[in-house]
Amino acid sequence: MTLDNRSAVTPKSGLRKAPGDYLSGFGNEFATEAVAGALPVGQNSPQRAPFGLYAEQLSGTAFTAARRDNRRSWLYRLRPSANHASFKVHPQGLLRGGPFDEVPPTPNRLRWSPLPAPTEPTDFIEGWVTYAGNGDPGVGAGLAVHLYRANRSMTDKVFFDADGELLIVPQAGKLTLVTEMGVLDLRPGEVGVVPRGVRFRAELPEGPVAGYICENHGALFRLPDLGPIGANGLANARDFLTPVAAFEDVDRPTLVIQKFQGRLWSSQFDHSPLDVVAWHGNLAPYKYDLARFNTIGTVSYDHPDPSIFTVLTSPSEVPGTANCDFVIFPPRWMVAENTFRPPYFHRNVMSEFMGLVHGAYDAKAGGFAPGGASLHNCMSGHGPDRASYEQAVKVDLKPHKIQDTLAFMFESRWVFRPTRFAMETPAMQLDYDHCWDGFEKARLP
Ligand SMILES: [Fe+2]
Repeated sequence: MTLDNRSAVTPKSGLRKAPGDYLSGFGNEFATEAVAGALPVGQNSPQRAPFGLYAEQLSGTAFTAARRDNRRSWLYRLRPSANHASFKVHPQGLLRGGPFDEVPPTPNRLRWSPLPAPTEPTDFIEGWVTYAGNGDPGVGAGLAVHLYRANRSMTDKVFFDADGELLIVPQAGKLTLVTEMGVLDLRPGEVGVVPRGVRFRAELPEGPVAGYICENHGALFRLPDLGPIGANGLANARDFLTPVAAFEDVDRPTLVIQKFQGRLWSSQFDHSPLDVVAWHGNLAPYKYDLARFNTIGTVSYDHPDPSIFTVLTSPSEVPGTANCDFVIFPPRWMVAENTFRPPYFHRNVMSEFMGLVHGAYDAKAGGFAPGGASLHNCMSGHGPDRASYEQAVKVDLKPHKIQDTLAFMFESRWVFRPTRFAMETPAMQLDYDHCWDGFEKARLP
């Protein structure tokens, strides 16, 4: 095969990539080629693609999904994806998948301290620990929540998830995802999304990493509608970044692992499948810097429901009732007058799994640490702990900026069902209920 050499070469990884790093926009029709002339012009699947590349469509929605929802890309690769031996069951450590019935779901409020770093050499895939999930990848609903911790790069190993797209929330360390559609560099404060089926290798350019993953079995994440907010606000489409095409030409045994119906399977390829020379379409990995979020709140009294902080939503078939909302609690001004400013007490038909990237969360005086997690399932009473409440009801309400914090929530219409690990790990805080002890009874006249 003859390929010209007008593409850039990244010396560290040996990848050949298109000029630049990222393309801007959310779900746009992107077109990118790591080798000039590799993309067919005017059609998707010519009799013979340029340079003898193999044309392949990657569908993220049904062929017949409505045009506004339809997501697919055309990939032009060195070898067909079909070129491999069968997959065999692969060890999966603490990774779990639906139907999440290892232990009975609990109505109790749960909170976990951060997990210790792994002591053994652990790569990104080996380091997944499933905390909870709902729904079922087999029927295309629900999600799974995993925490990841790793201390070594994946070498001659590639992963893809046939069960859902992956929303990755780094909490510590830089993660470089070398995907078949380009390179996504992620650091804490950013989030990345890898579509279902897209193959990637996770490299750790600066050492150990930790973070959270929402594995979305439902409808693809999209930007929420803005309603009366108007045409702009929250996460703006142009701040989403999709990598330019990059590929490696590696004829070396590569272990390809996939997650399928909750289990890991692997197959030894005789080459790296990260060999997509060019692609076009609207299904691709992307990342977003959460510092770009246009945070909207009250300028009079009370505060809007936390849905005002929704970055991405995976809708369900019930309008306004998400399979998953990805919500953040970023730095922001608090100016509401005569208002209890922290998150209020509430009971919610939706279920809430929270994590903390850095800083402190304004509804808790302590116990919710970066890298930790909490779960408040359907109808469990929660809200500020006593210390936060006491402070908030007596504080002099001047404009105040909450700084140096980044909490987030995966909110779902489906109850989160914890794994056995989540219920039995010493990281679980057995005294969590006590943070709501000791509230003084209201005094009637
Ligand atoms: Fe809540």
